[in-house]
Amino acid sequence: MKVLAIETSCDETGIAIVEGEKISDGFSFTVHKNVLLSQAALHAEFGGVYPNLAKREHQKNLPVLYEQFKDEVVDAIAVTQGPGLEPALWTGIEFAKKVAAERGVPLLPTNHMEGHLISSLVQNGKLEKVELPVLALLVSGGHTEFVLMESWFKYEVIGETLDDAVGEAFDKVARMLGLAYPGGPEISKYASQAREQGLTLLKTLPRPMLRSDNCDVSFSGLKTAALYALRGKELSEDEKKAFAREFEDAVTEVFLVKTKRALEETDAKTFVIGGGVAANTYLREKLKAVVKSAFAEVDFLLPERSITGDNAIMIAEAALARRLSGLDDSDQGDFRAVGNLSIEKD
Ligand code: KG4
Ligand code: ZN
Repeated sequence: MKVLAIETSCDETGIAIVEGEKISDGFSFTVHKNVLLSQAALHAEFGGVYPNLAKREHQKNLPVLYEQFKDEVVDAIAVTQGPGLEPALWTGIEFAKKVAAERGVPLLPTNHMEGHLISSLVQNGKLEKVELPVLALLVSGGHTEFVLMESWFKYEVIGETLDDAVGEAFDKVARMLGLAYPGGPEISKYASQAREQGLTLLKTLPRPMLRSDNCDVSFSGLKTAALYALRGKELSEDEKKAFAREFEDAVTEVFLVKTKRALEETDAKTFVIGGGVAANTYLREKLKAVVKSAFAEVDFLLPERSITGDNAIMIAEAALARRLSGLDDSDQGDFRAVGNLSIEKD
């Protein structure tokens, strides 16, 4: 089955064609074509994504990108249905509806978070021999949640941020430090230079919710602490590096503690991370070390960095995995509740 997928939930316009087939213990995927146009540079002056600008850009970009796909034969069109920025989502949904109608193929509404989760389980083009339950830590600019999948395609959010998403915190603190948007990769670069140079901050930042009796996290207090610590100060490059390191340390420590708790509570057999922040080298390494030492029986799957951020491949893979299993998009457990749009709305 060949699917053309469209992703426009945030500030990336993505179109991809992925072919999927069932294999003995799962699925195999072949990416035939993939294009991704990031608007990050345009949103940079706002220090975050500006929804109406995103919409305008998607409207402009989609027909241009689609030119490269119009002669390709596919069996269905998958489109991100939510969660995401409404004006941005609708641009993709309207476009996908038109394309599906013109081609006379079905439209497969697909959940963005399911896309992050399923695509992160794919290793070298195959999603196979994955043992349930799966625990996923999904970390992006819009979401921060621990998701439990006890049976395939049924999701339970067992912990989440009470306020800001972690990617948003990276972006805001980067902006406070005068670093470019998106801030995650910048903070990560500065933090790693600080570790190399042995630079540390004298005053530490808080590690919120470490002792709370659940898998929830919170980043607004950390962000505010950063704001107070930086207010009215001109930092040298070395001081910025030390600050970035301390911020990354604080975030990572929170995730290490909460991941341990989540793994203990759920008896997960597989652990996976996904979303834009899952590209963070330090977080990846620390999580890997903790899982290896304390949960040796858990299979930790790390997604390739190229698919951690928003893209259309992940939407195609989620849509394919579901359809190849004989399921439609209904009954997604908690994923249904996170701001999904009804595809029927006109
Ligand atoms: O999944 P994504 O591309 O879009 C959303 O659905 O939000 O995630 C974007 C977020 C941004 O906040 C960006 O700063 C963050 O992911 N990010 C990172 C890194 N690369 C991207 N955060 C920390 N370290 C990174 N290396
Ligand atoms: Zn995302």
